[in-house]
This record gives sequence, C-alpha cells and structure tokens, in this order.
Amino acid sequence: MVVGAQATEIDTVVIGSGPGGYVAAIRAAELGQKVTIIEKDNVGGVCLNIGCIPSKALINIGHHYADAKREEAKESPFGLTTTGVKLDWASAQKWKDEQVVKQLTGGVGMLLKKHKVEIIKGNAEFLDNETLNVEQEDGFKLLHFNNCIIATGSRPIEIPPFPFGGRILDSTSALSLKEIPKHLIIVGGGVIGSELGGAYRLLGAKITIVEGLDHILNGFDTEMSDIISKRVKASGSDIFTSAKAISAVQTDKDVTLTFEVDGKEQTVTGDYLLVAVGRRANTDLIGLNNTDIKMLDRGLIEVDDSYKTSVEHIYAIGDVVPGPMLAHKASFQGKIAAAAISGDPEAVDMHISLPAVAYTSTELATVGVTPADVADRKGDVKISKFPFAANGRALSMDEAEGFIRLITENKEGAIIGAQIAGPGASDLISGLSLAIENGLTAHDISLTIQPHPTLGEAIMDTAELADGMPIHI
Ligand code: NAI
Repeated sequence: MVVGAQATEIDTVVIGSGPGGYVAAIRAAELGQKVTIIEKDNVGGVCLNIGCIPSKALINIGHHYADAKREEAKESPFGLTTTGVKLDWASAQKWKDEQVVKQLTGGVGMLLKKHKVEIIKGNAEFLDNETLNVEQEDGFKLLHFNNCIIATGSRPIEIPPFPFGGRILDSTSALSLKEIPKHLIIVGGGVIGSELGGAYRLLGAKITIVEGLDHILNGFDTEMSDIISKRVKASGSDIFTSAKAISAVQTDKDVTLTFEVDGKEQTVTGDYLLVAVGRRANTDLIGLNNTDIKMLDRGLIEVDDSYKTSVEHIYAIGDVVPGPMLAHKASFQGKIAAAAISGDPEAVDMHISLPAVAYTSTELATVGVTPADVADRKGDVKISKFPFAANGRALSMDEAEGFIRLITENKEGAIIGAQIAGPGASDLISGLSLAIENGLTAHDISLTIQPHPTLGEAIMDTAELADGMPIHI
C-alpha cells in the first residue's frame, strides 16, 4: 500500500463470498444497496468449493459404489447380479469438480452479476473503521465504505503434532486425493471426520477414527451416533473414543499415528491421516485490530441480534460469530444483516429452529431442543420415538434402521425439538423446522395428510404417538 493513496468510495462491501457473503450481497442488492464483494479465492467460499458440496458429491459416489459392491457380493436382498464393479476415480473427481462445483459456483457468479454486485479479487484488510486495503496480484486498492459485512468464514484448525502436508490431510486435501486410501486414519470424529471418513469407507477404505470424547459426532446424542459407530465397526473399521492423539510419523508410503487409550499407547499405520479437530474463524488476518470491533474468545466477533458489531456500520455473520459453524446459519444471518443495513432490522432467535445434519450413513439430523436440553423438565415435556422399522417405505428401501424423535410440550403439544436418525433425515428435518418455527403442535402434524408410502409418514406417526393416538406402533 502507498501512504496517501486515494481511496475509492463504495456503499456496502461484503468481505467473503461463501454462503454467508454471497447471500448477504444479493439480499442487500435486492434491498437497494450498491454492493461490492471482496474475495481472495473462488466465488462460493469453502462450502461450495472445498466443503459441503464436493463432500456430498463424494458421499453420493460412495453410496453408489458400496451398493454395487454389495450386489456383486450377493449381500443385498434385491437379487441383482452385478459383476466386475470398478470405480474410475479420476472420472468421479472430474464430475465432482466440473459438473457439481463449477456449475454451482458459476451459477452464484451469474446471480451476483445479475444483481450488479461488483466482485473485487484480493485479500481485504481493515485500515480503520471505514477503510479497507485490498491486496491484489498486481497491486492494491483502497476502499472507503459506508457499510461492511464481514463474512470471512473459517479454516481447519492445525495442531502442532500434525502439521498439514504430505500424507497428513485437512478437509480440503482429503477431498481431492489422487487415489482412494486403503486405510484412512482420522483424528477427530466430529462431522467432518465422520462424513469424509464415511465417504471413503463406502468407497472401500478401512478407516480408523481416533476421537478425544467418549463418542463420535458430539453434536448428536449417543442413541443417534451409536447407529453410525456400529455400522463403521461392523464394516471392519475401527473407532477409538476417549483417545488422545499424540504424534504422527510419515514416510513416502504411509503414516503412523501414535495415540493413547486408557493410559496405554498404541499405534496405527495407514496410507493417509485426516486431521479434523474443528475449525477456527478467519478473523486473525483481516486487520480487526485497526478497528473498534469487540472480539470474544476463540477469534469470534461480538455481534447483536441483527449481527451488528460494536462498530455501528460493520456487521459480521457466519463462522466468524458465535454459534455452530453451519452454511445455512451464515446465509440466514447474511439476510438479516443485509436487511438491517437497509434500515429494516430484525431480531432473530437462531437457536429455536436451526437444524443441523450429519451426512453419514445413515443420516442424522436435529432441530430445536434435545433430550439433554429438557432433562430437568421431565414433568412438562414428552419425548416420543417412532422406528423406521415400522415405516413401509423405509422397509421397501432396505433402510429400516433408525428413528424419528419428537419433543413436545405437555401443555399444548407444541413441538420444541426433533431428531431423526435414518434414511432421508437431511430432507425430512426441514418439515420439522417449519413446524417448530411456526409453533405447530403434534396434533397439527397428525392432522396433516402425508402421501403413502413415504418416509414422511413416519413424522405423522411420531406426531400421533406424541398426541396419544398412535396407529402404527
Ligand atoms: P467438530 O467440532 O465437529 O469435531 C471435531 C472433533 O475432534 C471433536 O469431536 C473433538 O472432540 C475432536 N478432537 C479435537 N481435538 C482432538 C484431538 N487432539 N484428538 C482427538 N480428537 C480430537 O469439527 P469438524 O468435524 O472439524 O468440523 C468443523 C465444523 O464444520 C463444525 O463446526 C461443523 O459444524 C462444520 N461442518 C458441518 C457439516 C454439516 O453440517 N454437515 C459438515 C462438515 C463440517
């Protein structure tokens, strides 16, 4: 940057173009703002380029491959004969990159263009409460802004014993391996470890998960996560819980992890080691110390109900503010912040109906309160559980493991929480978010006609159970 250089005057600037940033930019433009996005990488952020979307593509390929292998081994009940099942990994990766990721990021680029959002490529850093310096390949740009939304997202946490590189992978490099691992070791059995590990397990890899807590998938209760653990173990893979990962040594062929369980050191050797121990907010490299923005612990930015920071005209959304690091949370907050900047502030209680999903095999989903949240409210809430084994559609799919759980208030029967472990959980949970958001009761759901045969009928069955008038259980 050159001292004394002239700054360009801009109206609303959004830093970052992930699901938080690009949604905020489009909404702000729809509400009449002249919007500029600053992005140092590809449009779409982690989620579209190296996160949610490509991982779902790999998980999908994994399901197809595992199903075909099951047919070939005559382990499926469907009676198909399939022989010579092979996966062309390069083609699979090409489809993921070109037909899925590129298509989606290209679409976002077009939406931004349609809304006349200017995209400046470069790395933004605050110089003060009103000015950004954007480092670009061929120089820099000074921007003087009226409003700003910080949507810079997060990156994988790197811990000292396991520096990323070579055979030690973060979630990004694990998505574009040149080969399917024979044995993938995973430190951290959270969502990323379980989803990506799950994808490679379906693709034929053995996996070994080493998790610090006493169960994997800590965002879900053990009744749910145990279904996944059992499936992983039944397929010949290993999970070590309450384990401490100590060190890793890699050679040109493999990597050996040393870890401790019950005070005993053990080692495991595989061809790759994925370290997925959480993510950290990208707030350390954007010059926040040059502003009056108040920070919280763990590099998070303090915001109010409309995602305004302690500086009147600067907002922050998504992974850089407290709460779960979820793309849909970022998008939602982006819309609230854009509205607030445009003079329409709305206060929102995100926690009530913010769903979370693990795209494991089988899927897990939760929204609203959990049984642990209402453990001290035994007298005034009811927990009702309906098994997929009693649902015709799930049986016809050979996917009858799992359940739907509803948590309702005794007084009016209002639904305040729901969990689904089983087929289609990621899509089914939306209906229950809608129910919670709109204060629906179990009775309302039981009076809603569901097409037959569908997995959705199991929601109606669970509601009837909660309402005291079950038919199928
Ligand atoms: P996470 O917080 O979900 O899981 C990390 C796990 O690593 C925890 O279970 C923790 O106990 C364990 N751990 C930490 N240090 C360890 C150590 N030294 N040794 C052994 N275990 C250790 O974080 P993850 O999976 O990296 O995901 C990051 C974020 O990305 C999450 O906040 C999640 O919300 C988001 N995400 C969401 C997805 C979804 O909604 N489907 C998919 C992928 C990521």
